[in-house]
Amino acid sequence: MQWRMDDGSQTLVLASDKGRMARVIYWGSPLSRSEDLDMLAQAAQLDVTGGMLDENPDLSICPEAGQAFPGQVGMVVADAIGTPLVPHFTFADAVTGKNHLTLVYKDANNGLTYTAEFNLNADTHVLSAKAALDADAPVRLHWLAAPVFTAPQLSDEMIDFAGRWCDEFKMIHTPWSAGIRLRENRTGRTGHEHFPGLIVPCRGASNTQGQVYAFHYGWSGGHRMVAEEIPDGRRQVQFGNAMGAELSTGKRFETATLFSTFSNQGLNGCAVAFQRHVRGEIIQQPNLVRPVHYNCWEAIYFDHSVDELKDIATHAAALGAERFVLDDGWFGKRDDDTSALGDWQIDARKYPNGLTPLINHVHAQGMSFGIWFEPEMINPDSDAFRAHPEWVLGDKAQVLGRQQLVLNLALSDVRDYLFDCLAGILSAYDIEYVKWDHNRVLPCVDADQTRGTYALLDRLREAFPKVEIESCASGGGRIDYGILERTGRVWLSDSNDALERLKIQHNAALFLPASVTGSHVGPYTCHTSGRTHNIRFRAWVAAQRHMGFEMDPRDLTPDAHSVLQDVTTWWKANREWMQTADILRLDSADDAVIAEQQLARDQTRFVVFAGKAETSDQIAPRPLRLTLLDNTAQYRIELINRGDAHHLSRGDQQIKSGPVTLSGGYLMNHGIALPWSFPDSMWVLEGTKL
Ligand code: DGJ
Repeated sequence: MQWRMDDGSQTLVLASDKGRMARVIYWGSPLSRSEDLDMLAQAAQLDVTGGMLDENPDLSICPEAGQAFPGQVGMVVADAIGTPLVPHFTFADAVTGKNHLTLVYKDANNGLTYTAEFNLNADTHVLSAKAALDADAPVRLHWLAAPVFTAPQLSDEMIDFAGRWCDEFKMIHTPWSAGIRLRENRTGRTGHEHFPGLIVPCRGASNTQGQVYAFHYGWSGGHRMVAEEIPDGRRQVQFGNAMGAELSTGKRFETATLFSTFSNQGLNGCAVAFQRHVRGEIIQQPNLVRPVHYNCWEAIYFDHSVDELKDIATHAAALGAERFVLDDGWFGKRDDDTSALGDWQIDARKYPNGLTPLINHVHAQGMSFGIWFEPEMINPDSDAFRAHPEWVLGDKAQVLGRQQLVLNLALSDVRDYLFDCLAGILSAYDIEYVKWDHNRVLPCVDADQTRGTYALLDRLREAFPKVEIESCASGGGRIDYGILERTGRVWLSDSNDALERLKIQHNAALFLPASVTGSHVGPYTCHTSGRTHNIRFRAWVAAQRHMGFEMDPRDLTPDAHSVLQDVTTWWKANREWMQTADILRLDSADDAVIAEQQLARDQTRFVVFAGKAETSDQIAPRPLRLTLLDNTAQYRIELINRGDAHHLSRGDQQIKSGPVTLSGGYLMNHGIALPWSFPDSMWVLEGTKL
């Protein structure tokens, strides 16, 4: 039996021989419609020789121990008292639909049913796959992989992601070799350190060309990834919840969705598929015009005064802000980060008349109002903890994180309490936005905790459908498509350092569109790096994504004020097309230049952001090649911030005095030569198809 799925950009073929578990026998560039799938299945068989089993055990969608599979298996399960089960699945059913496939396998001896589901989205080119295990009697699940994919042979390396606070989305390149590359996230949340993504480029692929496979596991509770080359040379990719995340026995278990895609257009083909999928399929309020944010955190921290905040709001509105977000410090007795998480009542010392005076003032400035919560956390120094110490997740002896503990969201009492607290505030005031924070790792891996958080978010969203929610976790500690199904924006990083942001944003674009990626202009001297950047660089880096401000606007010089106003005006004029544009990472001939091209969906216009991250090795800038333009069309190219050119840029390049007209072919095959610039600066080019 064989099944195939096609979307014009890729073909996926699965085959099941003699009732055994299905395996991916082909995934990649589209195959001809007339392909003989029987023949394909036979051709996919590998030879055997000395030192091998007499037949190659299937690298199936759930490789089985029972077949003596010589690598990591797709399921590890035991009966209720802990005796390991060795399932042996046979085909039971297949349900096919347009770009949909459900495969069901049964193990009668152990009373187990395995189900795999595949959905290929023909518009976004993202393949969604998940697996479930049903058992007649309770079993203990240690590991269940989402449907397992093969990885290409003509690939020399894989790229996964690491990071830390203020340095998210670092790309880690690991050569393929015998054995496994294992990422096991034991922190209980997605984490800065463990973004659940994998990219497998085929040899020679770059941002703009070549064959690339990419994966993302949409789960916020910590994932496990296995990329393995088994002794016969075959390669597999497994993703699932972290090992042992199911703490109780049960009769049904499900993986989260594994999102994947194949591209013939380099890493960008995968990035565009994921960006479009997030915009079109994952987030629930996709068509909102993103308002410019003002967030008060780095202006006031815990030092709240209504008069000061009103003054700040007035200045923020004058810069162009459209939404004012009141951050940490408005509730309980929260004068620093040692107390009050869990006490979600307005601090009457700071807000004697509640939030109304501030909200009215914010509204009078033409801005909407948003507010910060960190619902899943509790400080030992809080009334909530004193009343309910039994609500805490994990061991009593655990080490605290930011002086706080985690609430056990698997408990319905905890969820009800939090729902009532948040609903109380959201009902009492005109609030359209919640910044939902999560500032420590969990004391243990527990899938019920993640499910509890999802349930609370879902209940709140149902009760307050107009309230937008942002996912923050000390910056980018909880970014994944599981949380994005329930939120509309991520706080990508606590780093407002424009240089660090430039890099983080560039890599995050492999999975995230601009519309969900928050980016703020921070203070002149960055609070998390100590680095000082001029306002032009800071403003343009923020303008690459969902723009906002996060400094005390009263500290801006007149020049900084007017630059920020101008860039914000530019952003507002362009946001409608930019929020649905594709972010394309450019192959830069100069390692010092990190550049991207945001191409409108109708391809008639684009903007290029070329960030200079360090001093170049050579003196003159190397031409920057653009991508995915119409080869024969002419484009009007304008360096819109040419006024920023330094006097040390002495040449008389035409682009410094006005627009130039060039063909798509020239721009893609030669590139555009930009003026010389200092590091920590950005050139912004607008392109219009003529
Ligand atoms: C961490 C967040 O990332 C910051 O933006 C801010 O909201 C603080 N928490 C508040 O405690």
